[in-house]
Order: sequence, then C-alpha cells, then structure tokens
Amino acid sequence: MKTSPKMKSTRATLIRAGCALTDGKGVEDDLQRAKLEAQARAEELSAILDAAPGMTLIARDPNCRSMTGGRVAYDLLRLPYGSNLSKSAPRGERPSNFRVYSNGRELSENELPVQRAAALGREVRDSELTIVFRNGDSRDFFGNAAPLLNSDGTVRGAVGVFVDITERKLAERFTREFYAHMIRVQDHERRRIARELHDSVGQNLTGLVLSLGALKRASARLDQKSRKALKEGLASAREAARDVRTLSRLLHPPLLREFGLPDAIRTYVHGFSERSGIKVDIQLPARHRRFDKDVETTLFRVVQEALTNVYRHSGSKRAIVRMRFNNNRLAFEIRDFGRGMKAAANRRKLKDAKVVGIGIPGIRERLQHFGGELEVHSSTRGTLLRAVLPITHSGN
Ligand SMILES: Nc1ncnc2c1ncn2[C@@H]1O[C@H](COP(=O)(O)OP(=O)(O)OP(=O)(O)O)[C@@H](O)[C@H]1O
Ligand SMILES: [Mg+2]
Repeated sequence: MKTSPKMKSTRATLIRAGCALTDGKGVEDDLQRAKLEAQARAEELSAILDAAPGMTLIARDPNCRSMTGGRVAYDLLRLPYGSNLSKSAPRGERPSNFRVYSNGRELSENELPVQRAAALGREVRDSELTIVFRNGDSRDFFGNAAPLLNSDGTVRGAVGVFVDITERKLAERFTREFYAHMIRVQDHERRRIARELHDSVGQNLTGLVLSLGALKRASARLDQKSRKALKEGLASAREAARDVRTLSRLLHPPLLREFGLPDAIRTYVHGFSERSGIKVDIQLPARHRRFDKDVETTLFRVVQEALTNVYRHSGSKRAIVRMRFNNNRLAFEIRDFGRGMKAAANRRKLKDAKVVGIGIPGIRERLQHFGGELEVHSSTRGTLLRAVLPITHSGN
C-alpha cells in the first residue's frame, strides 16, 4: 500500500521524537504531538469510512477474526453498529443474518474477498457478490479487497470496499428478459405469418395454377393473343406460388426444431445456392449438440442474413459457412470472397445514400442478448462475419 503524505509526516514526527529521545531534548512534547496527530488521522479515517457511499470493511488480524467497517457496512448488512462483521469470527460473534453467494454458489468464509486478500497477501479485485438475508431479500455488490502489511511484509489484516450494484443488476436482468421476450414474440409472429402464407395464400395460388393449367390445356380454341396472356398468367401464378413457399420457409425454418441446426442450415444453404448461383461450402462438426431453441434460431438467422448480404452486396460467387467449438465458445463464420463492405457502400451511395441496413445491427443485438458478439472483418478480398457465443453447461 502507498504511504500517504499525512502518514509520512506522522512517521517523521515519530522519528524526530526518537532522535529527541537519544538527544534527551523535548521528548515529552514530540511524543504528545505525535500521539495527537495519530489520533487526528484515525478520526479522519473513521469519518471517511462513515461517509463513503460503499461498504468498507477492515480486519486488523491476519485471520480476519474481527472485522469492523463504515456505517454503511452495518446498515447494508443489517447489523448493529460496532458489532463484528466477519464471517470468520468465533462462533457466537459471527453474523448469521446473511449468506454470501457468487455466481449462484454459496461462498465459505475462506472464499470471501477480504479473507482471501489476507490469506494470499495480495489484492483480490472485481469480486461480484450477492448477499442473501434470512428473510429472502438480497443485494448485489461489486468490489476489491487488499491486504494490510506490517513493515516486515507479513500480513496484519485486510480491507475491502464494495459498492451496491443491486439496481444496476436489476436493470440488466430486465433488459435481458425484455430482449428474450422480443425475440420470442418476433419468432412467434413470423411463424404465424409463415403458416398463414402457406395455408391460405399458398393454397389459393396452387389452386389458381391448377385452374390456369386446365384452361391452358383447353386453350386451342382461343386466339393467339388470349393464349399468350394465359401462358404469361400461368407463369406468374407459378412464380408467385414458389415465392410464397420460399418466403414462408424463410420466416419459419421448418427443420430447425425437428432436426437441429446443422440440417436446417444445410437445407437452407442448398436452396440459397440454387436460387442465387453462389456455391457455398458448409463446414460443420460431425457430431452436433442441441442448444436452447432461441440460440438455434439466432444462429440460423445469422447464417440467413450473412448469406443474403453475400448475394446482395459482395458480388462473390463463393462462400463458406463454418461452425467451430473452442473453449466453451461456439464460433459461426460466414466468409465470402467479394468486393468488401467499403466498395459495396460506395456502390450503394451512388444509388441511395440514405439506406441504412438493419440486418447486421439486428444480429449483433440478438447475439449480445445471449452474451455473445459479432465480429466483422472486411477488405477488398472479401468479408468475414464471425458470431461468437459462450456455451454454458447448464443451458444454451
Ligand atoms: N458480404 C458483404 N459484402 C460486401 N458488403 C457488405 C456485405 N455485407 C454487408 N455489406 C455492407 O454493409 C451494409 C450493411 O449491411 P446490413 O445487412 O446491415 O444492411 P443491408 O443488407 O443493406 O439491409 P438489410 O439487411 O436491412 O436488408 C450493406 O448495405 C453493405 O453495404
Ligand atoms: Mg443485410
């Protein structure tokens, strides 16, 4: 720990007092002054601890058997002012009205940050703790702890400062739940529209194609102009039926839930290649795990959007879709060998400078919702989109 100027001056006074002792001059005066100064510093420190908006904790023994703190610490921990705050206190003195958790797991007394700082003799930073009270209330804290050292370097205690982040955590949780809800609503709505398109418009168009087909077979009696109109009408009806089918499949990838992500991607990519003439190389792991349904939908949408962009903007005739697992992270890459984003933006500017896409920001938002991120690398040799998602053991 750094020595403050005030502490230096106290020390200087004490040294002077020491010298005075050997010199035999004014000893009493200097010692008295040093004592008053030390008392003033202690009072200042105590005032700072009480005024600090965070929870400050001080243990003055290496095993943290006894712990005091600023007034806020007693208030937040709901303990009487001056009582022992340490979970390492001897039984009978130990506070029992709360338990401490981190990432959903209860911490033992030795795992608490102040105790660890004392045991390790070094700082313990960025601890996130949840304190759960006996009546079920809980509060979240974020903070650091540092050891207190004797002049010979041995540990004599430790301090910790923690800020209350309960409201921030609540806001984060709300935002996460809101996005999860939005994505579910969006997917639900897409499925509904897909069903409507398929069952109603699609069926009517198929009926129209069949009727026009029958009419065409009996069209020998029609004049040439009418026959041409009928032929064109039939072609348009067939095209519209195909478009509706494609659109309903895009809105609701039917294979995703039943067969999983790899099969849904293979089927989608196959159709995409046929329609666009772009050759897509798919590199997926041989064995695949199932993920949370919203995660699978998100990854499917990433591939869809990225390949649609390849078709619309890149000019590339080739693309690669690749999925990899690495250290509990799932990486999904879509690469093309086209003109790159800068050139694409320049081309588009000539036509319409105001067009701002929602494709890439949309998938970035979806990924962030699951704790993931989107990397975009683009040069004149092509564009690479990499979607990275952490895969936890419990859920996704
Ligand atoms: N593979 C790519 N190659 C070249 N440029 C690209 C590529 N992907 C995206 N871009 C550029 O980045 C811009 C933003 O892409 P984004 O997907 O966000 O929007 P968009 O495709 O223009 O519109 P939207 O997706 O909303 O229909 C595009 O307009 C294009 O200029
Ligand atoms: Mg796009």
